[in-house]
Amino acid sequence: MATTLITNIGSLVTNDPELGAGPLGLLRDAALVLDGDRIVWVGAAASAPDADNRHDAEGRAVQPGFVDSHSHLVFAGDRTAEFDARMSGQAYQAGGIRTTVAATRAASEQQLAANAGRLVGEAARQGTTTIEIKSGYGLTVADEERALRIASAFTAETTYLGAHIVAPEYAEDPAGYVDLVTGPMLDACAPHARWVDVFCERGAFDGDQARAILTAGKAKGLIPRVHANQLGHGPGVQLAVELGAASADHCTHLTDADVDALAAGDTVATLLPGAEFSTRAVYPDARRLLAAGARVALSTDCNPGSSFTTSMPFCIALAVRDMGMTPDEALYAATAGGARALRRSDVGVLRPGARADVVELDAPSHVHLAYRPGVPLVRAVWRAGVAV
Ligand code: NIG
Ligand code: FE
Repeated sequence: MATTLITNIGSLVTNDPELGAGPLGLLRDAALVLDGDRIVWVGAAASAPDADNRHDAEGRAVQPGFVDSHSHLVFAGDRTAEFDARMSGQAYQAGGIRTTVAATRAASEQQLAANAGRLVGEAARQGTTTIEIKSGYGLTVADEERALRIASAFTAETTYLGAHIVAPEYAEDPAGYVDLVTGPMLDACAPHARWVDVFCERGAFDGDQARAILTAGKAKGLIPRVHANQLGHGPGVQLAVELGAASADHCTHLTDADVDALAAGDTVATLLPGAEFSTRAVYPDARRLLAAGARVALSTDCNPGSSFTTSMPFCIALAVRDMGMTPDEALYAATAGGARALRRSDVGVLRPGARADVVELDAPSHVHLAYRPGVPLVRAVWRAGVAV
């Protein structure tokens, strides 16, 4: 296997405090060696070993690839008109999901795979090297299973979200839909999924339904994550912590008890500022969560309704500008935070043994991700040692 030396790195974020300064484990004038799909050496450029290939970063910043722990990439169609109407004053309603469900059911497997692949590629070019993908726009046994098979072609981080909304056919029988989601649909989907998720929100699933769905998923070996407290207060966050979910996602409307539960538990608070941006809603308060000691991740929530962006740099800029995060905290949340939300220790960090997921920025410091919003600063990306 060929080795590659990335040297002359002006500012290297390792996310390992044992390797460098502060929580980001920052090193100046640093170098990295990749061997196949792994990092094998990290340290001062002056003492770097030889390698087969050499990449000169010319003083630029280098960091771990982004870990986007929340996306909905298996869908067809778009919702431009809905966005346009919203920007003229209409409120966001979860019911818009039905529009995408109809388009997704009508699409072929090839069309869905091509669209997901296009978005995964778009994300990769912006530095995302690990991405979670949910089902949730099929809402029949066959359509949910198909979505997860498609997602599995792109990532190991697949999430069964049959409980996105009650399928239109069950509008008059939500209990019957929960039976389907916890029964035959789960049986078909579990072999293709690592995680189980539920949209716990007024208009989607209440606390009791969410508990039944997550518990059934756990019994099949899936690990819970929850769409919680996006549109209003509710039981989602506390349920997530109680069931040992890997993450509670959105966390926009939190009581003090919700914040305390997140701080005391192991569940990561995954913040999705693209959704607040695209629905013109109030942003979650990351400062409050961090001050309480909760673990925070940042993700895109990429989906055609509430957040049609694949850009982690954009989410970092929003988090810094509108959620009270420092540039260091936002970068950490978008890399190591996402890895924690996916219970991964091999990504989101640059240390020997970690996967060689490396991003070079066209900037002297990672701070530029927020300082220069909207500018394409990702210059080079290696995913598992392969240049993207
Ligand atoms: O995470 N909240 C639920 N699901 C998506 C929105 C999906 C849609 O509007 O199509 C979200 O924001
Ligand atoms: Fe989502």
